[in-house]
Amino acid sequence: MSFLSEIQRRRTFGIISHPDAGKTTLTEKLLLFGGAIQEAGAVKSNKIKKGATSDFMEIERQRGISVATSVLAFEYNGIKINILDTPGHKDFAEDTFRTLTAVDSVIVVIDVAKGVEEQTEKLVEVCRMRNIPMLVFINKLDREGKDAFDLLDEVEQKLGLTVCPLSFPIGMGYDFKGIYNLWEKNVNIFTGDPKKDIEDTVEINDLNSPELEKLVGEKHANDLRDNIELVNGIYPEFNKEDYLKGIQQPVFFGSALNNFGVRELLDCFVEIAPKPRPKQSEERLVKPEEKDFSGFVFKIHANMDPNHRNRLAFVKIVSGEFHRNNPYLHVRNGKKMKFSSPNAFFAEKKEIVDVSYPGDIVGLQDSGNFKIGDTLTEGEILNYKGIPSFSPEHFRYINNADPMKSKQLYKGIDQLMDEGVAQLFTLELNGRKVIGTVGALQYEVIQYRLEHEYGAKCTYENLNVHKACWVDPEDTKSEEFKDFKRVKQRFLAKDKSGQLVFLADSMFTLQMTEQKYPNIKFHYTSEFD
Ligand code: G4P
Repeated sequence: MSFLSEIQRRRTFGIISHPDAGKTTLTEKLLLFGGAIQEAGAVKSNKIKKGATSDFMEIERQRGISVATSVLAFEYNGIKINILDTPGHKDFAEDTFRTLTAVDSVIVVIDVAKGVEEQTEKLVEVCRMRNIPMLVFINKLDREGKDAFDLLDEVEQKLGLTVCPLSFPIGMGYDFKGIYNLWEKNVNIFTGDPKKDIEDTVEINDLNSPELEKLVGEKHANDLRDNIELVNGIYPEFNKEDYLKGIQQPVFFGSALNNFGVRELLDCFVEIAPKPRPKQSEERLVKPEEKDFSGFVFKIHANMDPNHRNRLAFVKIVSGEFHRNNPYLHVRNGKKMKFSSPNAFFAEKKEIVDVSYPGDIVGLQDSGNFKIGDTLTEGEILNYKGIPSFSPEHFRYINNADPMKSKQLYKGIDQLMDEGVAQLFTLELNGRKVIGTVGALQYEVIQYRLEHEYGAKCTYENLNVHKACWVDPEDTKSEEFKDFKRVKQRFLAKDKSGQLVFLADSMFTLQMTEQKYPNIKFHYTSEFD
């Protein structure tokens, strides 16, 4: 197959949802359709179960699972599908944000009873800001839930989307009869049998046909006719261009657990979802079709076995072909590197590959050379944008608890930060180190990993910080900026790349500081124009 056809047939996407909405179940059903797994239950959920916070073995076990499910690839009707895992747990939200820089589109899963939940809001906002094409799947229709129109309203209002229903439910919960597919113009009858692989789909080109009564009964038939009329009246017609631009979002209804409505979603997805998209680097826009290889690291996973400290760096291929054993330029450190055993990912395993294409993810063995955001090319200087750090929510001083092991401690901290486990801030005043995280769980992960992988011990000390703000003065030589640095000296730190950060102890302090220094901007993310 030619290079161009390989690109054309790739779809790389992520499934995002609030925990428990059904992401794992949906992933599994998609893999079943692709024939990539044989039975349900094969995909392990990587979610952090409640109460796991203090159970280190549990954390380790789950880290193991999450490497296995980081990328799941399968073929469906000649299309190569790569699903990138996005942890739903809020403590790992940054992982998910970074993964979203490597997807070309997303599927958003929403629980019909719970509606739009907090994590979904945050993740969709990131996708919206980047104009990532989104499909919405409203799940668990076999349960009693919210009215379909109310839900569509909620999706529009809370998520700021412009929805376009491509399927619509007939009844719900105990009375769930099936869905009408506006995309294919047929009715799919719900039998509640998840093993059924041939669906009871009946073509209904004319909703006024008496056939509908026979299928779902008079009440449901009439309701459906009214509902579809409303849908056609209220919502815009599906427009593929708008979907691809990220300004219109098709919606499907179904029940992942019952494997119902999933095929419709998948069939539509492979038809409309974008092939690998061009990506903006600091230098220029890079197109997948370009001959020269380029890619960037969006995730680093440490080996769980302390005897083999190697890590796996996940590289998304943006352009050209990636070949095993070819020398590639590591742009940040200016060195050429060869990879003798790059991994490609399949449903449940990874294998060494000779060549990979744009849209694919390769896993590269790494002994500490990579950081999240690093770029590899054939020689050109390119730096891919869009992997910012966000202000952490939690802050603690980290102290060395074993003076004999300070080298190990600093190496460990350094590598864990490169992996993106947390953020390190060094105080300007006294050089003390502060670890900032999205969730409290990471402190335990860090402590455990420092001890087991690096042989170092640490303790934490509380620190009262509300938010870390990246400081952006209009003029670094101004009296105002000098005054700010003098007055706020105790609260200033450098992040890992040397950018100046203000650790504000409260919202009030931040507001007062903003008022007092109007020519200094304070940002909640490390990347700003
Ligand atoms: P997540 O990855 O988004 O966190 O969700 P996951 O797929 O693990 O699903 C969360 C729970 O919701 C699971 O039940 C799953 O079986 C259930 N579920 C998923 N899709 C549907 C659906 O269409 N209908 C119904 N009724 N339930 C659904 P659990 O009891 O938490 O886990 P398990 O013990 O069944 O695995």
